[in-house]
Amino acid sequence: MKKSIITIDGPAGSGKSTVARILAEKLKFLYLDTGAMYRAVALYFIKNNLNYQNELENLKSILENINISFHHDPDQSLVKLNGKIVESEIRTPEVTELASPLSALPEVRTRLISMQREIGKNKNLVCEGRDMGTVVFPHAALKIFLVAQVDQRVKRRLLDLQKKGIPTDFAKLKKQMEIRDYRDSHRNLSPLKPADDAVEVDTTSLSIQQVVNKIMQLFEKNLGKTQ
Ligand code: DC
Repeated sequence: MKKSIITIDGPAGSGKSTVARILAEKLKFLYLDTGAMYRAVALYFIKNNLNYQNELENLKSILENINISFHHDPDQSLVKLNGKIVESEIRTPEVTELASPLSALPEVRTRLISMQREIGKNKNLVCEGRDMGTVVFPHAALKIFLVAQVDQRVKRRLLDLQKKGIPTDFAKLKKQMEIRDYRDSHRNLSPLKPADDAVEVDTTSLSIQQVVNKIMQLFEKNLGKTQ
């Protein structure tokens, strides 16, 4: 049977992770968090005291030492860096800050994109990131681009961090998010933007369940067209 891929792209705090995870669970598809992979690369640099700006010549060989995989169990997907689960270590503000400039480096993107295609090969997949619909899986069955007003996105991220016991404040987080979004959307390679055939969903005033229902309806409608 033909495999289906649903791509979910959008800026930080637009609801990608939560929605993608629920959708994957509902549809019994594999869930792939590609942001976690860029974060794992950033964690490797931090753990090994590597300043990427001094290592531009050595990037290829450094990347050969980085193995990223996922541990899937029935209710979660945990990212592994060189065999060790690092799911909580990659969610710190320090990693968040470094993942964005690292993700603009061609060597990093080339390596992670090929890993992502390999993971998604012959699978039913819900994947989330910045370039899923535009670059990594351009033939996906359904492409969603989530957006939300910046204050709402900051509020969601603030709640996430608070739940993890990481202190931060609204203004600081908003500034960081705006800088990161600008960088992710204006880089040369795979900038954050909707694919031409993506459906844009504004999640500002929608509940998670409403977003999930909307995407499920779009997917079912889409299946009807392709069968
Ligand atoms: O979605 P996230 O916040 O976990 O992503 C971390 C960083 O990785 C973010 O700054 C953008 C980058 N990223 C990317 O460039 N391409 C992707 N497909 C996913 C994430």
